[in-house]
Amino acid sequence: MTERERPHSAFETVALTADGVRLIDQRRLPSEEVYLVARTVDEVADAIVQMAIRGAPAIGIAGAMGIVLAVRGGARGGALTAAVERLSATRPTAVNLFWALERMRRLAVTVEAEAPETLEARLTDEALAIWAEDLEMCRRIGAHGAGLLPLGARVLTHCNAGGLATAGWGTALGVIRSAHAQGRVAHVYADETRPFLQGSRLTAWELQKDGIPVSVLCDNMAAHYMKRGLIHAVIVGTDRVAANGDIANKIGTYAVALCARAHGLPFYVAGPSSTIDLSCPHGDAIPIEHRAAREVTHLGATRVVPEGVAVENPAFDVTPADLVTALITERGVLRAPYAQALAETFGRPRVP
Ligand code: MRU
Repeated sequence: MTERERPHSAFETVALTADGVRLIDQRRLPSEEVYLVARTVDEVADAIVQMAIRGAPAIGIAGAMGIVLAVRGGARGGALTAAVERLSATRPTAVNLFWALERMRRLAVTVEAEAPETLEARLTDEALAIWAEDLEMCRRIGAHGAGLLPLGARVLTHCNAGGLATAGWGTALGVIRSAHAQGRVAHVYADETRPFLQGSRLTAWELQKDGIPVSVLCDNMAAHYMKRGLIHAVIVGTDRVAANGDIANKIGTYAVALCARAHGLPFYVAGPSSTIDLSCPHGDAIPIEHRAAREVTHLGATRVVPEGVAVENPAFDVTPADLVTALITERGVLRAPYAQALAETFGRPRVP
């Protein structure tokens, strides 16, 4: 990668190297900036499950690069299918993972039939293209979305939809970055995002590196700040957009959307086409990942829930389309009715 292609000067979310898939270990941020190299499909799958890498577009990119590792290791035919299945079984909600793996699988089938000696080169090019396209889509999302914010806006975001969740620029944070460059963002409030703390650990870290003013709010503070007139807009990313415009995103997003509606604030959702799932009719059909209890019962090494008490840990929730003010995509800003707007913008051309 040349310096010009580098998405962010301060960190590199995910890269394909001669040794494997290199990624910044997001579990250790913000205390330590440590990179790890996943050398096998299993190691990539573990990194996704354990959220060393996370964020919808980023896990799609890592999955695609994992398929390259499988091919480097000699996997062909059924063994490649097994690699796709292994990576598909990691996290169920973000559709980008399945989109990227299906893209790699289809290409592998074609190349194995037509020019098997080129398989590694072709799949490497494809994984790098998925990375580069994500970067470009996020930059376009930023450009399309920036104008939605008034000059000097104070913006709330939830979870991390930044460079760490993508090839390196971000969806919601891509909009915030572009808008900040235009003088439109005076301040960002980052919800801490229990239980994994993507907002306080990752979003605040990224924005601080960019010199964008940021304060962390505990997840129960947003309504209070909205009521006091300190927030002008909400922007979040998404893990899957259903055909009717319902969106899945980090648990807590739905509550933020309800608060925004109650206070008459715009609630914007930013996501690339790799996040749009027109085969999924509505939000109730989106699979919601449930994660280990320990993420809730412990803060680091400290137990914060009494031993023996049950906890719940859904990682995502669904915000209905009618709470979404606009969907910001690389092809422009979409407004309700979303079923129509999504089909017209991203649907396959109709066969006459
Ligand atoms: O569990 P995570 O950290 O993978 O969840 C991430 C989110 O919910 C993001 O908001 C979403 O993936 C959009 S990232 C551009």
